[in-house]
Amino acid sequence: MVISMPRGTQDILPEESIKWQYIEGKLREISKNFCYEEIRTPMFESTELFSRGVGDTTDIVQKEMYTFQDKGNRSLTLRPEGTAGTVRSYIENKLFAKTIQPQKLYYVGPMFRYERKQKGRYRQFVQYGVEVIGEESPKIDAEVISLAYNIYRMFGIENIKVSINSLGNPEERQAYNEALVKHFEPRINEFCEDCNNRLYKNPMRILDCKVDAGHELIKSAPKLLDYLGEESKQYFAEVLKHLDALGVKYEIDHNLVRGLDYYTHTAFEIMIDNPEVELKTLCGGGRYNGLIKLLDGPEDKKGIGFALSIERLLLALESENIELPIDDTIDVFVVAMGEEASNAGVKLTNDLRLAGYSVQNDYFDKKMKAQMKIADRYNAKYSIIIGQSELESGTLVVKDMKSFEQEIIKLENIVDYLQEKLRGEK
Ligand code: HAM
Repeated sequence: MVISMPRGTQDILPEESIKWQYIEGKLREISKNFCYEEIRTPMFESTELFSRGVGDTTDIVQKEMYTFQDKGNRSLTLRPEGTAGTVRSYIENKLFAKTIQPQKLYYVGPMFRYERKQKGRYRQFVQYGVEVIGEESPKIDAEVISLAYNIYRMFGIENIKVSINSLGNPEERQAYNEALVKHFEPRINEFCEDCNNRLYKNPMRILDCKVDAGHELIKSAPKLLDYLGEESKQYFAEVLKHLDALGVKYEIDHNLVRGLDYYTHTAFEIMIDNPEVELKTLCGGGRYNGLIKLLDGPEDKKGIGFALSIERLLLALESENIELPIDDTIDVFVVAMGEEASNAGVKLTNDLRLAGYSVQNDYFDKKMKAQMKIADRYNAKYSIIIGQSELESGTLVVKDMKSFEQEIIKLENIVDYLQEKLRGEK
């Protein structure tokens, strides 16, 4: 029986992986412009990192982790997200002692969640994320949100909406949670089983329940912003002021709570504003001031970040009918006629590849017409034709595959010729 890939995973075949490479390249480019440096952390970590960091009552920890014992009986988990590992690394490698603070880090890599399979929801997916860890400032919050926002715009996705909320500090949230319990408790039997379980453990999660989204008690629930103290309100107002200055369009969403426990103050999501797309959330993030201390790092260090998946970015591109400017051409296809010329063609192909060009040749001594067809399939910009007479005269016929113009070039001048034609340099 043919073995198929695990449910919720996907093979990214060459015609797709070329898009991934383009996207990852652009993400690295914009990260550099915003002065973020790459961090690479392990794909599996101690299970405790996530149960402590992401939170014991979250869906991720309760239902979605790929956890296993290794041969040394350690409990390990395939990372479901990148923040906990990045913060662990920040603490373990004492990045807080570096002269540049805050540390501005980014990552691109696979994450794993045992989730119900759906369009845009995979069990292995690739997140690009950033984390700014160290000191805190509303300017940093605004920069992080603006980076996320501008990533979509960089790819031509204009139809997006930033939803933002402030989750305050733990004391403010405590008071708010108590108000929510009071609000929902008398009629909790009208809600789903998950919400019943959440009522005392994590009542804020009722607000973003998918099942009970339309319930009138959700609409009439107390607003977190009313429970924020002066300092938190002031901080949030500053963040919004900087977002205005940066031209980021946002909406305050009082019910935005996020699914991970580590958030404090600023929390945000970016949604696609297209009724045809079912899974609208493209990106999520926020501030996590308590997480560094929770993971036994220095008490005064704070963080903020976001993550987005490339899978959902690709779906957004598709739903907006945006074609990426992918270059699927090769520079040259070498067409050789006759055995001796074919051997010379192999050598020429190799020489041109080592000189920095993408070059393919025919391996099977096919007829000229068939070789030209293969050159077309490869989307070659030029073909170079060698036959017996070219071998004797030390020349090559170079054909522009678009204009069909042909030139005869001396073998020793071919690299210079291609340099001029393909790179525009003399
Ligand atoms: P999250 O909201 O769990 O946050 O995930 C962030 C993004 O990852 C989502 O908006 C979505 O684009 C993508 N994503 C999540 N699950 C899946 C899935 N099963 N399939 C495809 N894409 C998915 C976090 O992970 C936080 N660590 C973000 C963060 C960074 N907060 C602060 N710093």
